[in-house]
Amino acid sequence: MLKKSFKTNSPFRYPGGKFYARKLILECIPSHNKYCELFAGGASIFFSKPSVNENILNDKDEELVNCFLHIRDHVEELIEKLKGIPATKELHKYYKNEFVPKNDLDRAFRWFYLNRTSYSGIMKHVNCYWGYGEKYSMVPENWLSHLRTVSEKLQNVTILSKDFEEVLETLPSGYFLFIDPPYFNADQDKFYTCSFKLEDHIRLAKALKKHQKKFKFLITYDNSEEVRELYTWCTAMLDREWNYTMNRTDDQKKGLQLKDGVKNERYKGKEVFITNYSVNDIVPVEMLKYSKETSQLSL
Ligand SMILES: C[S@@+](CC[C@H](N)C(=O)[O-])C[C@H]1O[C@@H](n2cnc3c(N)ncnc32)[C@H](O)[C@@H]1O
Repeated sequence: MLKKSFKTNSPFRYPGGKFYARKLILECIPSHNKYCELFAGGASIFFSKPSVNENILNDKDEELVNCFLHIRDHVEELIEKLKGIPATKELHKYYKNEFVPKNDLDRAFRWFYLNRTSYSGIMKHVNCYWGYGEKYSMVPENWLSHLRTVSEKLQNVTILSKDFEEVLETLPSGYFLFIDPPYFNADQDKFYTCSFKLEDHIRLAKALKKHQKKFKFLITYDNSEEVRELYTWCTAMLDREWNYTMNRTDDQKKGLQLKDGVKNERYKGKEVFITNYSVNDIVPVEMLKYSKETSQLSL
């Protein structure tokens, strides 16, 4: 049976993932019994909180969703494919450029392998570089047990690959929506396979305004004038900042040598959280505390 407080972490490394902001985000999410992420990516917020009665993860990226579906429904087959495969630059190159998947399981395997071994989990083909380091990446021996715990958390979760608007149009009322679209200003085309243009940002704001009485929602966005302008009709706009580090390897330094081939860079996440409810009146959801075992997982 699904344990509601099941503790695990996203199976993926994901650009724009909200792992480091999860505490700040969860403080603003009211307790709920139906939950949907319209732009799931690595779904780090879903994995940080207890599962509820109805859980939906949606992302337009079909390769990502195919991998999520295999972790949920065919985890042992996926593990069988990954068993004994080391993380090497040569294999990364091979799976990126030469390997031809014969079926959906092969596609899921290839996506997972590249995601775990690419810089920041960037999967867009032209920007998908080798970015694995034993000091900061989860080692392949731990991938398999991690996939099993993730699979358990995903049981009974609805996983969709649709445009956000189609989901919004068909979703019954009463869901809490966590909405983390690609940034408005940053060059998001570099990171995601599905590009998101100005008209998509406008389409999102319009669709949310149309359905504002059906759902409570929290949107996380880059903190810009344009974004604030699109959501003047919402209840709260909260400025939020957090720290995070990223590991860069020689491959991202365009030929320059780094000490040990790796460099830690510190960054500050600065975003605006937009809600259609007052965050002062809520009982926030609890954050799952990592057990000794899971706290050692590296991203
Ligand atoms: C900022 S990321 C989400 C990160 C996620 N919150 C996490 O913690 O990993 C944005 C996601 O939106 C997806 N996306 C882009 N266009 C979309 C669309 N029209 N409908 C649904 N998802 C879309 C991208 O594939 C990407 O995974």
